[in-house]
Amino acid sequence: MAGFSALIRSVSICVDQANEIFSIPEMDIEGADITPASHDIELKNITFAYENRTIIDGVDLRIPEHTTTAIVGPSGGGKTTLTNLMARFWDVKSGEVLLGGRNVKDYNFDSLMRNFSFVFQRVYLFEDTIANNIRFGEPDAPMEKVIEAAKKARCHDFIMNLPDGYDTVIGEGGASLSGGEKQRISIARAIMKDSPVIILDEATANVDPENEAELTKAIEELTKEKTIIMIAHRLKTVEHADNIVVIDGGKIVQQGKHNELMQQDGIYRIFVTDRQKAASWKL
Ligand SMILES: Nc1ncnc2c1ncn2[C@@H]1O[C@H](COP(=O)(O)OP(=O)(O)O)[C@@H](O)[C@H]1O
Ligand SMILES: [Mg+2]
Repeated sequence: MAGFSALIRSVSICVDQANEIFSIPEMDIEGADITPASHDIELKNITFAYENRTIIDGVDLRIPEHTTTAIVGPSGGGKTTLTNLMARFWDVKSGEVLLGGRNVKDYNFDSLMRNFSFVFQRVYLFEDTIANNIRFGEPDAPMEKVIEAAKKARCHDFIMNLPDGYDTVIGEGGASLSGGEKQRISIARAIMKDSPVIILDEATANVDPENEAELTKAIEELTKEKTIIMIAHRLKTVEHADNIVVIDGGKIVQQGKHNELMQQDGIYRIFVTDRQKAASWKL
């Protein structure tokens, strides 16, 4: 009996955990296959919470297509969460996220995802060949297209120096790449995908100077003629943006062009002028 009671207890804990998973509201992934006429993004008074903690608190934002929006602000302010809500990684608690005038909830998963590419600082690649990692999502893509994307993303030269070139398997038991190389592979993948909206989440944070020039060129190739949303902390990437959005505590506290924000008595000016504070703004 004593033995069984321990077993029953652990079974009951597992059942509780399973029930908890089943009780998470399932995202409705019905949706239609939508090709929006434009790729303007509009956030209408959105809020979002993790459990009971409000993370995004009444945000209104318009991002016209083919513009560059920079999102800046202190670490933990909600920058990453905000971009995740645009691509419906999470559902808003209230308000609406529109892409091309349609609620993101109207789209089915594939037709929504076609619109977005994400570039992160940390990249995980598959244990597969370099070529397959680049053509991921488009398995029949011809080799010429893979190489073209790799060249634009400044990957071609280091790939050609690997033992089996594009057929080199990466990951455990295969070739290991530096962080910067992996990141450029992920940019090559995004160049192949050619989606209209590119979201860069701290993509150039903590990049060593050697990799920075290559990375910058790769990003320039990727973002030509796109709608760009970048979470960034470096002045030189932010100051030319069409709109700079300062997020603090889940709210937009300032918004405008660099010169406008510099005139205001707000945290943007502190971000720019107070280097010490800026350094502590984790990207
Ligand atoms: N998966 C999660 N579960 C619970 N809280 C989270 C999760 N992801 C982020 N948060 C919290 O949400 C807040 C905003 O995070 P985030 O959007 O990553 O901010 P930022 O990108 O501006 O640094 C932070 O307080 C963070 O701790
Ligand atoms: Mg973040």
